[in-house]
Amino acid sequence: MTGVVKLRAGGSHLQQIPNDPRHLEALLDFYAGAGVDCFLQDDPVDWVALTRAQAAQRAQAGSQVASSAQPQQPRQQTPASNFQGQATAPPVPAAPIAAQIGAVPPASMGQSPVLPDREIIAAARDLAASAPTLDELRNCLSAFEGCNLKLTAKKLVFADGNPEAKLMFVGEAPGRDEDLQGLPFVGRSGQLLDRMLAAIGLDRSSAYIANVVPWRPPGNRTPTPQETEICKPFILRQIELVNPDVLVFLGAASAKTLLGVQDGIRKMRGRWMTYPCKGREISAIATYHPAYLLRSPLEKRLSWRDFLAIKQKLGEKAAD
Ligand code: URA
Repeated sequence: MTGVVKLRAGGSHLQQIPNDPRHLEALLDFYAGAGVDCFLQDDPVDWVALTRAQAAQRAQAGSQVASSAQPQQPRQQTPASNFQGQATAPPVPAAPIAAQIGAVPPASMGQSPVLPDREIIAAARDLAASAPTLDELRNCLSAFEGCNLKLTAKKLVFADGNPEAKLMFVGEAPGRDEDLQGLPFVGRSGQLLDRMLAAIGLDRSSAYIANVVPWRPPGNRTPTPQETEICKPFILRQIELVNPDVLVFLGAASAKTLLGVQDGIRKMRGRWMTYPCKGREISAIATYHPAYLLRSPLEKRLSWRDFLAIKQKLGEKAAD
């Protein structure tokens, strides 16, 4: 059967594509890979005005951003914008694309994305700072509605390992396997991390592992600076609550976000730095991200040096 399905791409023009499941699948695949995470719906909406009003309301209500620990009613009548909250002005096809092609919309569809702005970041800060324990921080984060990545992720990826550990690793953001399991570093790069830990006589019972961003960005794209800013207060608080002796940044992204350093990973790795935390200075080091090592196995020899340095530093701290 032939036919045509009309899709509105980027809010600017209609695309006509053959009504063939393979074409539709390939197109949806492309959209997901490109970071598109919402279906367009019927009515034109001024998203800038709407999300600013929502942000103001939320800021006013302070921790109400997190108040939805109770399940929210899906807002069926509210059309979605793209994840960056860009306005999608002109009218769009009568039914959502998902309905046109018989796809099942994600559970989060119907919740309106939020424009990241200063109020949301401030609310995230207040909320994170108010959590007295890791369990409460996790609860705050799972109820937090301020980050659009939550709309497309399957699970919150909070942390794994031992909260009492002296060694803490911070990565950038979860990938597909992590999103499915709700645990950080459980895919191929996580397995490599486990092997590297084993090589210095450690495992997940002697380390704590988290990410800067706790939701998988669609298609594994890099988190936007706004998404990172919104999530940052939660990882800062997580580090404060774990209060490790040694902090390891896996890859440059987490070190740049949390230490404000600008160097690339080649220059930064293997150098001891300090991370100020609760009036003390935590020894911090960046090393190659295991995903990079999977692509560039020759660099493992440098990572090995870093891990030996980490082991030595842990020994020194224990002897202090
Ligand atoms: N990469 C990361 O940075 N974090 C994960 O949890 C998995 C892969």
